[in-house]
Amino acid sequence: MPRLRGRGVTALIEAEGMAAGYAGLPALRDVDFAIRAGEIVTVVGPNGSGKSTLVKTLIGLLAPTAGKVRRAEGVTIGYVPQKLAIDQTLPMTVERFLSLPVRRAREDAAEMLRRVGVPGLERRQMTRLSGGQFQRVLLARALLGRPDLLILDEPTQGLDQPGVAEFYRLIEEVRRATGCAILLVSHDLHVVMSASDRVICLNGHVCCEGTPDHVLSAPEYRALFGEEAGGTLALYHHHHDHSHDHDHDDPAHGHGHPHAGQKEPAH
Ligand SMILES: Nc1ncnc2c1ncn2[C@@H]1O[C@H](COP(=O)(O)OP(=O)(O)O)[C@@H](O)[C@H]1O
Ligand SMILES: [Mg+2]
Repeated sequence: MPRLRGRGVTALIEAEGMAAGYAGLPALRDVDFAIRAGEIVTVVGPNGSGKSTLVKTLIGLLAPTAGKVRRAEGVTIGYVPQKLAIDQTLPMTVERFLSLPVRRAREDAAEMLRRVGVPGLERRQMTRLSGGQFQRVLLARALLGRPDLLILDEPTQGLDQPGVAEFYRLIEEVRRATGCAILLVSHDLHVVMSASDRVICLNGHVCCEGTPDHVLSAPEYRALFGEEAGGTLALYHHHHDHSHDHDHDDPAHGHGHPHAGQKEPAH
């Protein structure tokens, strides 16, 4: 990928004054955005705030109605969509799914399934997978393309709390191992905060953005997330007041134990 050599400075994807919508109905406006190699950027925002629209426009599934989107030449993107409807009546094994739309060698597929923690699922029907297994298979498919940028749209939806923590640990591992940039759309604020370099808070436009600390204290963010923002703050600071070096490795000492900010039933 010679074009990407100036990686530190060149954005993988960049949007300028971007707007997007559906059949004349605007969903997003005035978006300036850039993600560079190796960055973890998290997009948060309420339902319907345009998070999926942003992602789809960035990768070219949706044309912007105003402004510009630029993708670095030769940039490879792995995309895990928010929703993927599998035809319940159509038999499809995991192995076959991993080879869509690009044919993959059997050994590569098997190795990738191992790496994402679901070894030996090749012959299983897609419709027979648990929620967690399904997400991992989607991730495996995205990673088989060796992406410079991995985009995950609410990848932990429907997973339970330990499942969420585990999935994020896996994502961090992937990032360490491959160095790819990650654009994550999420509602799991407290977990997300600890892992992101940069957070973008969306509500039809970019409400605020910056370091997790900056966003957490931004009035725009608090106005959007209310109660939840307080819990997030407590968790985030807990996270950084301590010098644990195993924050993400041990579920028993990670986010599972009670913190002051977690006791309030925020959900
Ligand atoms: N395919 C679509 N057709 C028409 N409107 C859509 C479509 N997808 C999303 N929208 C609308 O665009 C807005 C933003 O949606 P979306 O980007 O999916 O939000 P989020 O991912 O933050 O929940 C919402 O008002 C939603 O109803
Ligand atoms: Mg969405």
